[in-house]
Amino acid sequence: MTTENRSEAQPERSTPTGGRLLAVSDLHISYQENRDLVEKLQPSHPGDWLLVAGDVAEITTSIEWALGLLAERFARVVWVPGNHELWTHPEDPVQLRGVARYEHLVERCRRLGVVTPEDPYPVWEGPGGPVRIAPLFLLYDYTFRAPGTTTKEASLAAAYESGIVCADERMLYPDPFPDRDSWCRERVRLTEKRLAACDPDVPLVLVNHYPLVRQPTEILWYPEFAQWCGTELTADWHTRFNTAAMIYGHLHIPRRTTYDGVPFTEVSLGYPREWRKRGLPDPLLREVFPQTAG
Ligand SMILES: [Fe+2]
Ligand SMILES: [Fe+2]
Repeated sequence: MTTENRSEAQPERSTPTGGRLLAVSDLHISYQENRDLVEKLQPSHPGDWLLVAGDVAEITTSIEWALGLLAERFARVVWVPGNHELWTHPEDPVQLRGVARYEHLVERCRRLGVVTPEDPYPVWEGPGGPVRIAPLFLLYDYTFRAPGTTTKEASLAAAYESGIVCADERMLYPDPFPDRDSWCRERVRLTEKRLAACDPDVPLVLVNHYPLVRQPTEILWYPEFAQWCGTELTADWHTRFNTAAMIYGHLHIPRRTTYDGVPFTEVSLGYPREWRKRGLPDPLLREVFPQTAG
């Protein structure tokens, strides 16, 4: 799939005035309680956009159900894949692997009118805008290494030793790449070119399943898990590119932090066992704009 020759000069379609730019991730609708919550999600204004930062579900029909429902309700839905969408789950009738699975999901999204990382980056012209929304698919490359290790092999070995191993190792295939880190490096290369080609005068909202910097992973209960949470290759993107906000999920630790003056917001819902304990994020759909502009 080629992404290199697309023009980022124009948004695809005009936006109704007003509305908010909202974000959520990690809906994990294979849990019925989460599915019930998604069924209730509604825009508060006909111009509301929704950014969905990955981990909707594992099964293709479930992913389509949720994104289709949201696309009917919100003026625009922008999706990036999480690791769960990329699993080739034994219960999914779609048994495509790696790049072929990702491309299949992109195709399904396009049929639903959902914007993917393969589409031109749309421009939010509503309150707080204009900002260009850049949905990113970058994966991870094991460079957020386990404590005391300096190579991927040692980092993985430390994880296996502690028993903290991401299920991606069993279900997220990198085909046709030899490994997930090679796939990640190619995604970083392609994405960097696209971001560099964007008009620097229009600030970016970078949306990725993983944080672009390592710091948010420093509060993980199991530090070995960080190696499945991003890449050092993007550590300076929020300062190199004109970034108004960075939206991510995956960690299931909803919070907002600032790095070099750029707000990073973790917008996850998470598993029912997690949100039952700490309470639902309030509001569940986090406001990116106009709040960030204020
Ligand atoms: Fe998740
Ligand atoms: Fe995830």
